[in-house]
Amino acid sequence: MKTVTIDGVTLHLSHPQELPLNWVGQQELMDQMLAAWLVVDDEDLPLNPRLIGKPGVGKTTLAYAAGRRLGREVYIFQATVDTRPEDLLITPVISDQGRIQYMAGPVVTAMIRGGVAILDEGNRMSEKSWASLAPLLDNRRYVESLVAGLKIKAHPDFRLVATMNDDASTFEIPEYIHSRLQPQILIDFPEADEERQILKQNLPFADEALLEYVVAFLQLAHRRGERYTVRDGINMARYAIKMLAADQTRGATPKGPLEYLVRAALQILGQDALVYLRE
Ligand SMILES: Nc1ncnc2c1ncn2[C@@H]1O[C@H](COP(=O)(O)OP(=O)(O)O)[C@@H](O)[C@H]1O
Ligand SMILES: [Mg+2]
Repeated sequence: MKTVTIDGVTLHLSHPQELPLNWVGQQELMDQMLAAWLVVDDEDLPLNPRLIGKPGVGKTTLAYAAGRRLGREVYIFQATVDTRPEDLLITPVISDQGRIQYMAGPVVTAMIRGGVAILDEGNRMSEKSWASLAPLLDNRRYVESLVAGLKIKAHPDFRLVATMNDDASTFEIPEYIHSRLQPQILIDFPEADEERQILKQNLPFADEALLEYVVAFLQLAHRRGERYTVRDGINMARYAIKMLAADQTRGATPKGPLEYLVRAALQILGQDALVYLRE
């Protein structure tokens, strides 16, 4: 495990994420992300964009892919209701020798290494935790860890992005934090072409005919204002493909793709989803 020593305190760093995620389509969203992170002058500072959208529209994927596009290490912190400021920054743990070791979380590790930090599902986290990031999110660009007694400055290459589901805020995030998480980048449902590409990217082994049903299903659901996202489409297709393979293994006569999709939709999304497959 990598360590760094700051003001005589040794910090153990987190590991960057290595994920096989590629962003497909909706190029303007990627452009907005990269523009927000650009620094155009010595006096300039990067912005901290906030990605907003329904669960499953691709927020985490976009944040990760944008970080990789910069060629930086990407660190993801998953925010929850229980996240405390020390979880976010530096956590003390007892080592084998009974000494205290300080573990730098993903955000602090990214700050030290000049990487990208994704604060995932940030709206689940309390104001108290957000408050510990306030100086990081403005022109001060540092955090203070009370636990380790350290003030840590962000590397100039450090970038931050927060993702937030637009339907499930656990806490009301205060205005002074919102104003530091700008611009807002809204991820909406993709067009049919893009949705087809996304499905192919995620399920390269899937049958074309099956994917066409899923695209038609999703597009119809989007037009009717349903909340089903490409993640639901991927899950449905994946399960349908597995049921088909299981039937083949058992030597049963395989059914058509639509029949498997109907069963998958019923179990994954419930009865209400079936109308969009039947039409
Ligand atoms: N534009 C896209 N390109 C590639 N994959 C995508 C895209 N949009 C969504 N996905 C896929 O959809 C699924 C859900 O995306 P995710 O980023 O986890 O959504 P969110 O974070 O908004 O809940 C993932 O499997 C992801 O790979
Ligand atoms: Mg996510």
